[in-house]
Amino acid sequence: MSTAICPGSFDPITLGHLSIIRRVARIFENVVVLVMHNSEKQHMFTADERVDMIWRSVKGVPNVGVDAYDGLLADYARQFDSAVIVKGLRAVTDFEYEFQMAQVNKTVNPTLDTMFLTASEKYTFLSSSMVKELAKYGADISAFIPREIIPDVKQRAGGDGNG
Ligand code: PNS
Repeated sequence: MSTAICPGSFDPITLGHLSIIRRVARIFENVVVLVMHNSEKQHMFTADERVDMIWRSVKGVPNVGVDAYDGLLADYARQFDSAVIVKGLRAVTDFEYEFQMAQVNKTVNPTLDTMFLTASEKYTFLSSSMVKELAKYGADISAFIPREIIPDVKQRAGGDGNG
């Protein structure tokens, strides 16, 4: 069975992430959305909280599962007979970092390939960091994240949420 792993911080999951996940689910038999630690970022939500928010956001998509792993992505992938990493690219500025990651993962686990999907045009500007920033100032974030998780983000960000 062909498995796609969609790794990321998902802190929190955005509509841009969800769009990529839904498209990957149409291509692969099985999709694992994998919550990971990005050592370059300070996460607002714990891994368990992020997993829970993703489960609520992908409900109804039957071939998508959610997991968390605190080690190397290349090691996590070893449990599958064949799996590929699938990531979204919003702009050419994403490419250099993602290309480097793909090379590192392939070096650690030579059976592991990375594929890229281009983000839908309407989400090219969108990032979890931007959502958190807006939420901190109480702005309306409903156009950017799944509606199921809006209360979680508003509450954690501490904005007044009236924007
Ligand atoms: O959504 P992000 O923050 O761009 O995702 C980056 C992430 C979490 C996928 C990346 O930091 C990652 O793979 N972390 C796990 C540790 C790892 O395998 N690092 C790659 C080799 S340095």
